[in-house]
Amino acid sequence: MIFVTGGAGFIGANFVLDWLANTDESVVNIDKLTYAGNLENLSSVFNEPRHIFVQADIGDGQQMAALLAKYQPRAVVNFAAESHVDRSIHGPEDFIQTNVVGTFRLLEAVRAYWGTLDAALKKDFRFLHVSTDEVYGTLSPTAPAFTEEHNYEPNSPYSASKAASDHLVRAWHHTYGLPVLTTNCSNNYGPLHFPEKLIPLVIVNALAGKPLPVYGDGMQVRDWLYVRDHCSAIRRVLDAGILGETYNVGGWNEKANIDIVKTVCSLLDELRPRTDGLPYAQQITYVQDRPGHDRRYAIDARKLERELGWKPAETFETGIRKTVQWYLENPEWVANVQSGSYRDWVQKQYAE
Ligand code: NAD
Ligand code: DAU
Repeated sequence: MIFVTGGAGFIGANFVLDWLANTDESVVNIDKLTYAGNLENLSSVFNEPRHIFVQADIGDGQQMAALLAKYQPRAVVNFAAESHVDRSIHGPEDFIQTNVVGTFRLLEAVRAYWGTLDAALKKDFRFLHVSTDEVYGTLSPTAPAFTEEHNYEPNSPYSASKAASDHLVRAWHHTYGLPVLTTNCSNNYGPLHFPEKLIPLVIVNALAGKPLPVYGDGMQVRDWLYVRDHCSAIRRVLDAGILGETYNVGGWNEKANIDIVKTVCSLLDELRPRTDGLPYAQQITYVQDRPGHDRRYAIDARKLERELGWKPAETFETGIRKTVQWYLENPEWVANVQSGSYRDWVQKQYAE
């Protein structure tokens, strides 16, 4: 049995589905259900006895302690976080609360629980912290990709809060011996991605005939990884990672934002052409840049490949096509997320 926190969000839900499909082990999924948490993401596993959902805040140390004592997991995989950079710029408070204070409280609850385990269980226990490439800051156009040795130079409230959480995790290993692992991944994309983030926003806005907002000159570079490849990397690190180490996760897919937007437009032109026959690219609208916008991220994931033998299964071309197809096939998911009606569904599903 493992604990997953934030398992109703984009990557966490994909991870829970991936875990249930690829292992025989149960998962207790702990999620506060913020605006980003959506139990509809998990509707296919509601009748799966190996999936137990608990609505809770990682910042509630007492509840975390009670859950750990009750279920006795062999590992905790921590996805729970506020994740959207733009939101962190407009309101950083929640980012400090969940990403910093929440991680601290979770670490403390886990440390106390870990201390109660017998020697063999203690040795095998793992706390895997899911983090981001944004902690490394920004790269010039010609600089080599971020390795695990790169300095931490976070630039947004989001990345600063994630960097703080990574440091706490590191310190809990060095000071208390807690068996931790940290992964730093590049930009994910794929099914279940909340349409406030670039790729799903562009798909959803394009289909609705709305502008496709491109910040600044659109030449900022992100390094994209299909979400299920991130999930397989986390499973691999959990299985074989060296305690206290950090592992970069990425697929060598650097793309300028404007190219991403144009790629999505072309796929939509092919798969769901506009009724007026015009290209979706004509909806592209350049808007004001994000304050403090990092110019370039690029991840060097060779350590994970070399030491643990992980490789992504998808290329960007196969992954982005699957992603656009998924959004075309799931208009109800999009409508429910946009209307917020998935919350009513949650109330019905969990009415005691
Ligand atoms: P998301 O915003 O889609 O999901 C976050 C989930 O955490 C939601 O279900 C939310 O309800 C839950 N949550 C928030 N605060 C909580 C709290 N206090 N207690 C319990 N649950 C809480 O985020 P995501 O994109 O799936 O990212 C998941 C993790 O992966 C984050 O830690 C993020 O920093 C990291 N990450 C994301 C990316 C990416 O491209 N999306 C890349 C690298 C790393
Ligand atoms: O690099 C990993 C990070 O990727 C994760 O840690 C974050 O949780 C995740 O949200 C993501 O952060 P980004 O800021 O890179 O993702 P976002 O989709 O918000 O933006 C991607 C790029 O597109 C970024 O350069 C900003 C730009 N953008 C974004 C939006 C929403 C636009 O040009 N227009 C938009 O409307």
